[in-house]
Amino acid sequence: MTAAGSSLADFDALSTGKQIDDDANYQWRVAARPVGNVVPSDFEWAVTDIPEPGEGEVLLKTHYLGLAPVMRFYMQGTGAAGERVLEPGDVIHGRGVAQVVKSRHPDWREGEMVQGQLGWQTYKVSKMTPQEKFFRMPPNGLPAALGSGVLGMTGLSAHAGLFSCGDPREGDRMVLSGAAGGVGSMVSQMATNVVGCDVVGMAGGPEKCTFILDHGCSHAIDYKSENIEARLDELRPDGVDLYFDNVGGETLEACLERLRLHSRVVLCGSISEYTRDEPFKLSNYTRLRATETRMQGFFVYNHLDRWNAVMDDLAGWIHDGKLKPVQDVEQGFEHMPRALANLYYGQNVGVQCCSVRGEPEAWN
Ligand SMILES: NC(=O)c1ccc[n+]([C@@H]2O[C@H](COP(=O)([O-])OP(=O)(O)OC[C@H]3O[C@@H](n4cnc5c(N)ncnc54)[C@H](OP(=O)(O)O)[C@@H]3O)[C@@H](O)[C@H]2O)c1
Repeated sequence: MTAAGSSLADFDALSTGKQIDDDANYQWRVAARPVGNVVPSDFEWAVTDIPEPGEGEVLLKTHYLGLAPVMRFYMQGTGAAGERVLEPGDVIHGRGVAQVVKSRHPDWREGEMVQGQLGWQTYKVSKMTPQEKFFRMPPNGLPAALGSGVLGMTGLSAHAGLFSCGDPREGDRMVLSGAAGGVGSMVSQMATNVVGCDVVGMAGGPEKCTFILDHGCSHAIDYKSENIEARLDELRPDGVDLYFDNVGGETLEACLERLRLHSRVVLCGSISEYTRDEPFKLSNYTRLRATETRMQGFFVYNHLDRWNAVMDDLAGWIHDGKLKPVQDVEQGFEHMPRALANLYYGQNVGVQCCSVRGEPEAWN
Protein backbone atom coordinates (compact mmCIF):
# COMPACT_ATOMS: atom_id res chain seq x y z
CA MET A 1 0.00 0.00 0.00
CA THR A 2 1.18 3.56 -0.63
CA ALA A 3 0.94 6.49 1.71
CA ALA A 4 -2.09 7.56 -0.29
CA GLY A 5 -3.80 4.24 0.45
CA SER A 6 -3.63 2.90 -3.09
CA SER A 7 -2.01 -0.33 -4.26
CA LEU A 8 -0.43 -1.41 -7.53
CA ALA A 9 -3.41 -3.71 -8.17
CA ASP A 10 -5.68 -0.64 -8.43
CA PHE A 11 -3.88 0.24 -11.67
CA ASP A 12 -5.28 -2.90 -13.36
CA ALA A 13 -8.79 -1.47 -13.10
CA LEU A 14 -7.55 1.75 -14.73
CA SER A 15 -6.43 -0.09 -17.88
CA THR A 16 -9.48 -2.38 -18.15
CA GLY A 17 -11.41 -1.91 -21.42
CA LYS A 18 -8.79 0.40 -22.91
CA GLN A 19 -7.05 -0.60 -26.11
CA ILE A 20 -5.39 1.36 -28.86
CA ASP A 21 -5.65 1.06 -32.67
CA ASP A 22 -4.18 3.00 -35.61
CA ASP A 23 -7.37 5.01 -36.29
CA ALA A 24 -7.12 7.52 -33.44
CA ASN A 25 -4.63 9.16 -31.12
CA TYR A 26 -4.75 7.78 -27.59
CA GLN A 27 -3.34 9.80 -24.73
CA TRP A 28 -2.71 9.73 -21.00
CA ARG A 29 -3.16 13.15 -19.42
CA VAL A 30 -2.72 14.65 -15.95
CA ALA A 31 -6.03 14.38 -14.08
CA ALA A 32 -4.69 15.50 -10.71
CA ARG A 33 -1.32 16.44 -9.29
CA PRO A 34 0.17 13.46 -7.37
CA VAL A 35 0.47 13.83 -3.62
CA GLY A 36 3.02 11.27 -2.44
CA ASN A 37 3.14 8.35 -4.84
CA VAL A 38 1.01 8.31 -8.01
CA VAL A 39 -2.51 6.83 -7.71
CA PRO A 40 -4.92 5.83 -10.52
CA SER A 41 -7.06 8.96 -10.12
CA ASP A 42 -4.04 11.09 -11.10
CA PHE A 43 -4.39 9.83 -14.72
CA GLU A 44 -6.98 10.57 -17.43
CA TRP A 45 -7.41 8.58 -20.69
CA ALA A 46 -8.29 10.60 -23.80
CA VAL A 47 -8.98 9.79 -27.46
CA THR A 48 -8.54 12.39 -30.22
CA ASP A 49 -8.21 12.45 -34.00
CA ILE A 50 -4.79 11.72 -35.47
CA PRO A 51 -3.28 15.16 -36.14
CA GLU A 52 -2.18 16.22 -39.66
CA PRO A 53 1.32 17.67 -40.05
CA GLY A 54 1.53 21.19 -41.46
CA GLU A 55 4.39 22.72 -43.43
CA GLY A 56 7.65 22.09 -41.54
CA GLU A 57 6.13 19.32 -39.39
CA VAL A 58 6.18 15.52 -39.18
CA LEU A 59 3.68 12.95 -37.96
CA LEU A 60 5.25 10.49 -35.53
CA LYS A 61 3.81 7.08 -34.69
CA THR A 62 4.84 5.88 -31.23
CA HIS A 63 6.38 2.40 -30.83
CA TYR A 64 7.89 2.51 -27.32
CA LEU A 65 7.81 4.88 -24.38
CA GLY A 66 10.33 5.03 -21.56
CA LEU A 67 9.43 5.55 -17.91
CA ALA A 68 11.48 7.52 -15.39
CA PRO A 69 10.96 8.59 -11.76
CA VAL A 70 11.05 12.26 -12.87
CA MET A 71 7.63 11.84 -14.59
CA ARG A 72 5.92 12.08 -11.22
CA PHE A 73 7.49 15.53 -10.87
CA TYR A 74 6.24 16.47 -14.34
CA MET A 75 2.72 15.58 -13.21
CA GLN A 76 3.17 17.67 -10.08
CA GLY A 77 3.81 20.69 -12.31
CA THR A 78 7.28 21.44 -10.96
CA GLY A 79 8.90 22.13 -14.33
CA ALA A 80 11.41 19.39 -13.45
CA ALA A 81 14.26 18.66 -15.85
CA GLY A 82 13.56 21.91 -17.70
CA GLU A 83 10.39 20.54 -19.32
CA ARG A 84 7.31 22.74 -19.81
CA VAL A 85 5.18 22.92 -16.63
CA LEU A 86 2.15 20.64 -16.98
CA GLU A 87 -1.37 21.63 -15.99
CA PRO A 88 -4.23 19.19 -15.30
CA GLY A 89 -5.57 18.13 -18.71
CA ASP A 90 -2.14 18.19 -20.39
CA VAL A 91 -0.57 15.11 -22.03
CA ILE A 92 2.11 13.75 -19.66
CA HIS A 93 5.70 14.31 -20.81
CA GLY A 94 7.68 11.24 -21.80
CA ARG A 95 10.42 10.29 -24.20
CA GLY A 96 10.17 7.35 -26.52
CA VAL A 97 10.77 5.75 -29.90
CA ALA A 98 8.65 6.60 -32.94
CA GLN A 99 8.60 6.29 -36.71
CA VAL A 100 8.19 9.28 -39.02
CA VAL A 101 5.05 8.28 -40.95
CA LYS A 102 4.43 11.61 -42.75
CA SER A 103 6.95 14.35 -43.31
CA ARG A 104 6.57 17.94 -44.47
CA HIS A 105 9.87 18.78 -42.78
CA PRO A 106 13.02 19.22 -44.94
CA ASP A 107 15.34 17.41 -42.49
CA TRP A 108 13.32 14.30 -41.58
CA ARG A 109 12.32 11.47 -43.95
CA GLU A 110 9.35 9.11 -43.81
CA GLY A 111 10.35 5.70 -42.48
CA GLU A 112 13.10 7.02 -40.20
CA MET A 113 13.09 5.94 -36.56
CA VAL A 114 13.62 8.67 -34.00
CA GLN A 115 13.70 9.01 -30.24
CA GLY A 116 12.66 12.11 -28.35
CA GLN A 117 9.92 13.90 -26.48
CA LEU A 118 6.68 12.27 -27.65
CA GLY A 119 4.51 12.57 -24.57
CA TRP A 120 2.25 9.76 -23.41
CA GLN A 121 0.39 9.43 -26.70
CA THR A 122 0.28 7.11 -29.68
CA TYR A 123 0.79 9.81 -32.36
CA LYS A 124 2.38 13.23 -32.30
CA VAL A 125 2.76 16.07 -34.77
CA SER A 126 6.09 17.77 -34.22
CA LYS A 127 8.17 20.60 -35.61
CA MET A 128 11.19 18.65 -34.25
CA THR A 129 12.31 21.59 -32.12
CA PRO A 130 15.54 21.52 -30.06
CA GLN A 131 13.41 21.52 -26.90
CA GLU A 132 12.04 18.06 -27.89
CA LYS A 133 15.58 16.64 -28.22
CA PHE A 134 14.97 14.26 -31.10
CA PHE A 135 17.75 11.97 -32.27
CA ARG A 136 17.83 9.70 -35.32
CA MET A 137 18.17 6.01 -34.58
CA PRO A 138 20.60 4.50 -37.06
CA PRO A 139 19.80 0.83 -37.80
CA ASN A 140 22.61 -0.89 -35.84
CA GLY A 141 21.31 -4.45 -35.68
CA LEU A 142 19.77 -3.84 -32.25
CA PRO A 143 16.04 -3.63 -31.43
CA ALA A 144 14.34 -0.24 -31.68
CA ALA A 145 13.02 -0.88 -28.17
CA LEU A 146 16.45 -0.07 -26.74
CA GLY A 147 15.96 3.56 -27.82
CA SER A 148 13.46 3.97 -25.00
CA GLY A 149 16.07 3.20 -22.35
CA VAL A 150 19.45 1.52 -22.70
CA LEU A 151 20.22 3.42 -25.94
CA GLY A 152 18.31 6.50 -24.76
CA MET A 153 18.40 8.95 -21.85
CA THR A 154 18.90 6.16 -19.31
CA GLY A 155 22.02 5.03 -21.14
CA LEU A 156 23.33 8.58 -21.44
CA SER A 157 22.68 9.10 -17.70
CA ALA A 158 24.55 5.94 -16.74
CA HIS A 159 27.48 6.79 -19.03
CA ALA A 160 27.71 10.45 -18.01
CA GLY A 161 27.40 9.66 -14.31
CA LEU A 162 29.99 6.92 -14.32
CA PHE A 163 32.59 8.22 -16.75
CA SER A 164 32.24 12.03 -16.70
CA CYS A 165 31.61 12.37 -12.96
CA GLY A 166 32.83 9.15 -11.33
CA ASP A 167 36.27 8.97 -12.95
CA PRO A 168 36.27 5.19 -12.36
CA ARG A 169 39.61 3.38 -12.10
CA GLU A 170 40.53 -0.25 -12.40
CA GLY A 171 40.36 -1.91 -8.98
CA ASP A 172 38.11 0.76 -7.45
CA ARG A 173 36.19 -0.53 -4.41
CA MET A 174 32.82 0.72 -5.59
CA VAL A 175 29.32 0.81 -4.06
CA LEU A 176 26.20 1.34 -6.16
CA SER A 177 22.65 1.89 -4.89
CA GLY A 178 19.59 1.28 -7.07
CA ALA A 179 21.70 -1.43 -8.73
CA ALA A 180 18.78 -3.35 -10.25
CA GLY A 181 17.18 -0.26 -11.79
CA GLY A 182 17.58 1.27 -15.23
CA VAL A 183 20.65 3.41 -14.60
CA GLY A 184 22.03 1.06 -11.95
CA SER A 185 21.98 -2.11 -14.05
CA MET A 186 24.03 -0.33 -16.72
CA VAL A 187 26.48 1.32 -14.32
CA SER A 188 27.28 -2.00 -12.62
CA GLN A 189 28.08 -3.73 -15.90
CA MET A 190 30.13 -0.87 -17.36
CA ALA A 191 32.09 -0.36 -14.12
CA THR A 192 32.96 -4.05 -13.91
CA ASN A 193 33.26 -5.16 -17.53
CA VAL A 194 34.64 -2.00 -19.14
CA VAL A 195 36.72 -0.47 -16.32
CA GLY A 196 37.50 -3.34 -13.93
CA CYS A 197 35.98 -1.96 -10.71
CA ASP A 198 34.72 -4.24 -7.96
CA VAL A 199 31.07 -3.34 -7.38
CA VAL A 200 28.97 -3.95 -4.27
CA GLY A 201 25.37 -3.36 -5.33
CA MET A 202 22.28 -2.59 -3.27
CA ALA A 203 18.78 -3.63 -4.27
CA GLY A 204 15.46 -4.49 -2.67
CA GLY A 205 14.68 -8.19 -2.21
CA PRO A 206 16.36 -11.54 -2.91
CA GLU A 207 15.35 -11.77 -6.59
CA LYS A 208 16.85 -8.40 -7.41
CA CYS A 209 19.98 -9.32 -5.46
CA THR A 210 20.37 -12.47 -7.57
CA PHE A 211 19.84 -10.33 -10.68
CA ILE A 212 22.55 -7.81 -9.80
CA LEU A 213 25.07 -10.58 -9.07
CA ASP A 214 24.45 -11.68 -12.65
CA HIS A 215 24.85 -8.11 -13.95
CA GLY A 216 28.23 -6.85 -12.83
CA CYS A 217 28.07 -6.84 -9.03
CA SER A 218 30.47 -9.04 -7.02
CA HIS A 219 28.32 -8.77 -3.88
CA ALA A 220 24.75 -7.72 -3.15
CA ILE A 221 23.16 -5.98 -0.18
CA ASP A 222 19.40 -6.45 0.21
CA TYR A 223 18.68 -3.10 1.81
CA LYS A 224 15.12 -4.15 2.63
CA SER A 225 16.12 -7.04 4.89
CA GLU A 226 19.75 -6.37 5.82
CA ASN A 227 21.46 -3.73 7.93
CA ILE A 228 23.23 -1.56 5.33
CA GLU A 229 25.92 -0.28 7.69
CA ALA A 230 26.86 -3.72 9.00
CA ARG A 231 26.99 -5.16 5.48
CA LEU A 232 29.10 -2.27 4.19
CA ASP A 233 31.55 -2.82 7.05
CA GLU A 234 31.69 -6.50 6.14
CA LEU A 235 32.01 -6.08 2.36
CA ARG A 236 34.04 -2.86 2.30
CA PRO A 237 36.29 -3.18 5.38
CA ASP A 238 38.87 -0.83 3.78
CA GLY A 239 36.28 1.72 2.72
CA VAL A 240 34.86 2.97 -0.58
CA ASP A 241 36.69 4.57 -3.53
CA LEU A 242 33.60 5.33 -5.58
CA TYR A 243 29.96 5.57 -4.53
CA PHE A 244 27.33 5.93 -7.27
CA ASP A 245 24.16 7.21 -5.60
CA ASN A 246 20.71 6.60 -7.05
CA VAL A 247 18.73 6.78 -3.82
CA GLY A 248 20.07 9.50 -1.46
CA GLY A 249 18.94 9.62 2.18
CA GLU A 250 20.36 7.32 4.84
CA THR A 251 22.16 5.20 2.22
CA LEU A 252 24.17 8.19 1.00
CA GLU A 253 25.00 9.05 4.60
CA ALA A 254 26.20 5.49 5.30
CA CYS A 255 28.49 5.55 2.25
CA LEU A 256 29.96 8.97 3.06
CA GLU A 257 30.88 7.58 6.47
CA ARG A 258 33.05 4.93 4.77
CA LEU A 259 34.91 7.01 2.15
CA ARG A 260 38.59 6.40 1.53
CA LEU A 261 41.16 9.12 0.83
CA HIS A 262 40.63 10.74 -2.62
CA SER A 263 37.37 8.95 -3.33
CA ARG A 264 34.50 10.06 -5.52
CA VAL A 265 30.74 10.28 -5.00
CA VAL A 266 28.34 10.59 -7.97
CA LEU A 267 24.95 12.12 -7.20
CA CYS A 268 22.66 10.66 -9.84
CA GLY A 269 19.33 10.47 -8.03
CA SER A 270 17.67 10.32 -4.63
CA ILE A 271 14.51 8.26 -5.16
CA SER A 272 14.23 7.39 -1.45
CA GLU A 273 13.59 11.07 -0.81
CA TYR A 274 11.16 11.89 -3.64
CA THR A 275 7.93 11.11 -1.79
CA ARG A 276 9.02 12.32 1.66
CA ASP A 277 7.28 15.34 3.18
CA GLU A 278 10.54 16.74 4.57
CA PRO A 279 13.84 16.72 2.63
CA PHE A 280 16.55 14.48 4.12
CA LYS A 281 19.19 16.43 6.05
CA LEU A 282 22.68 15.09 5.41
CA SER A 283 24.66 15.31 8.66
CA ASN A 284 28.14 14.06 7.69
CA TYR A 285 29.12 16.04 4.58
CA THR A 286 32.35 17.01 6.35
CA ARG A 287 33.60 13.51 5.53
CA LEU A 288 34.28 14.96 2.07
CA ARG A 289 36.80 17.38 3.53
CA ALA A 290 38.47 14.82 5.74
CA THR A 291 38.93 12.38 2.87
CA GLU A 292 39.52 14.94 0.08
CA THR A 293 36.61 13.40 -1.78
CA ARG A 294 34.96 14.89 -4.83
CA MET A 295 31.16 14.67 -4.72
CA GLN A 296 29.62 15.63 -8.04
CA GLY A 297 26.07 15.77 -9.28
CA PHE A 298 25.09 15.77 -12.93
CA PHE A 299 22.06 16.42 -15.08
CA VAL A 300 21.73 14.25 -18.16
CA TYR A 301 20.49 17.03 -20.46
CA ASN A 302 23.83 18.83 -19.94
CA HIS A 303 25.58 15.90 -21.66
CA LEU A 304 23.60 15.83 -24.93
CA ASP A 305 26.52 17.12 -27.00
CA ARG A 306 28.18 13.71 -26.56
CA TRP A 307 25.08 11.75 -27.64
CA ASN A 308 26.52 10.06 -30.74
CA ALA A 309 29.81 9.06 -29.11
CA VAL A 310 28.04 7.66 -26.04
CA MET A 311 25.52 5.69 -28.13
CA ASP A 312 28.39 4.25 -30.19
CA ASP A 313 30.15 3.19 -26.96
CA LEU A 314 27.01 1.57 -25.56
CA ALA A 315 26.06 -0.23 -28.80
CA GLY A 316 29.66 -1.47 -29.12
CA TRP A 317 29.68 -2.87 -25.58
CA ILE A 318 26.34 -4.59 -26.22
CA HIS A 319 27.76 -6.21 -29.37
CA ASP A 320 30.93 -7.20 -27.42
CA GLY A 321 28.86 -8.80 -24.64
CA LYS A 322 30.14 -6.37 -22.00
CA LEU A 323 26.73 -4.78 -21.53
CA LYS A 324 23.61 -6.95 -21.41
CA PRO A 325 20.68 -4.64 -22.13
CA VAL A 326 17.94 -5.14 -19.56
CA GLN A 327 14.59 -3.51 -20.21
CA ASP A 328 11.44 -4.28 -18.23
CA VAL A 329 8.76 -3.98 -20.89
CA GLU A 330 5.14 -3.34 -19.93
CA GLN A 331 2.99 -4.59 -22.82
CA GLY A 332 0.35 -2.10 -23.94
CA PHE A 333 -0.03 1.67 -23.86
CA GLU A 334 -3.02 1.30 -21.54
CA HIS A 335 -0.62 0.20 -18.78
CA MET A 336 1.54 3.37 -18.77
CA PRO A 337 0.27 4.57 -15.36
CA ARG A 338 1.09 1.22 -13.77
CA ALA A 339 4.50 1.26 -15.46
CA LEU A 340 5.26 4.58 -13.77
CA ALA A 341 3.99 3.32 -10.41
CA ASN A 342 6.26 0.24 -10.79
CA LEU A 343 9.30 2.49 -10.31
CA TYR A 344 8.10 3.73 -6.95
CA TYR A 345 6.95 0.27 -5.82
CA GLY A 346 10.36 -1.18 -6.79
CA GLN A 347 8.73 -3.56 -9.29
CA ASN A 348 11.03 -2.93 -12.26
CA VAL A 349 14.24 -4.76 -13.08
CA GLY A 350 16.38 -2.78 -15.52
CA VAL A 351 14.95 0.10 -17.53
CA GLN A 352 11.19 0.39 -17.23
CA CYS A 353 9.55 0.99 -20.60
CA CYS A 354 6.30 0.29 -22.37
CA SER A 355 5.69 -1.35 -25.73
CA VAL A 356 3.03 0.64 -27.55
CA ARG A 357 3.22 -1.15 -30.92
CA GLY A 358 6.35 -3.30 -30.68
CA GLU A 359 9.07 -3.23 -33.33
CA PRO A 360 8.49 -1.40 -36.65
CA GLU A 361 7.98 -3.62 -39.74
CA ALA A 362 10.69 -1.81 -41.68
CA TRP A 363 13.08 0.97 -40.75
CA ASN A 364 15.32 3.17 -42.90
N1 LIG B 1 20.87 13.05 -12.75
C1 LIG B 1 20.19 12.76 -13.85
O1 LIG B 1 20.24 13.45 -14.88
C2 LIG B 1 19.33 11.53 -13.82
C3 LIG B 1 18.91 10.90 -15.01
C4 LIG B 1 18.16 9.73 -14.94
C5 LIG B 1 17.78 9.23 -13.68
N2 LIG B 1 18.16 9.91 -12.56
C6 LIG B 1 17.84 9.38 -11.23
O2 LIG B 1 18.56 8.17 -11.10
C7 LIG B 1 17.84 7.26 -10.29
C8 LIG B 1 17.62 5.97 -11.06
O3 LIG B 1 16.78 6.26 -12.16
P1 LIG B 1 16.19 5.10 -13.07
O4 LIG B 1 15.44 5.77 -14.16
O5 LIG B 1 17.23 4.13 -13.38
O6 LIG B 1 15.13 4.46 -12.11
P2 LIG B 1 15.14 3.03 -11.45
O7 LIG B 1 16.40 2.82 -10.66
O8 LIG B 1 14.78 2.01 -12.44
O9 LIG B 1 14.02 3.38 -10.38
C9 LIG B 1 13.28 2.61 -9.69
C10 LIG B 1 14.02 1.81 -8.60
O10 LIG B 1 14.34 2.63 -7.48
C11 LIG B 1 14.29 1.82 -6.30
N3 LIG B 1 13.55 2.49 -5.25
C12 LIG B 1 12.28 2.90 -5.29
N4 LIG B 1 11.94 3.47 -4.11
C13 LIG B 1 13.05 3.41 -3.34
C14 LIG B 1 13.34 3.81 -2.00
N5 LIG B 1 12.42 4.42 -1.26
N6 LIG B 1 14.59 3.58 -1.52
C15 LIG B 1 15.54 2.98 -2.27
N7 LIG B 1 15.31 2.57 -3.55
C16 LIG B 1 14.08 2.79 -4.06
C17 LIG B 1 13.54 0.55 -6.69
O11 LIG B 1 14.48 -0.52 -6.68
P3 LIG B 1 14.57 -1.46 -5.40
O12 LIG B 1 13.46 -2.45 -5.51
O13 LIG B 1 15.92 -2.05 -5.51
O14 LIG B 1 14.36 -0.58 -4.23
C18 LIG B 1 13.05 0.80 -8.07
O15 LIG B 1 13.02 -0.37 -8.88
C19 LIG B 1 16.55 7.95 -9.89
O16 LIG B 1 16.71 8.54 -8.62
C20 LIG B 1 16.39 9.01 -10.97
O17 LIG B 1 15.62 10.09 -10.53
C21 LIG B 1 18.92 11.02 -12.60
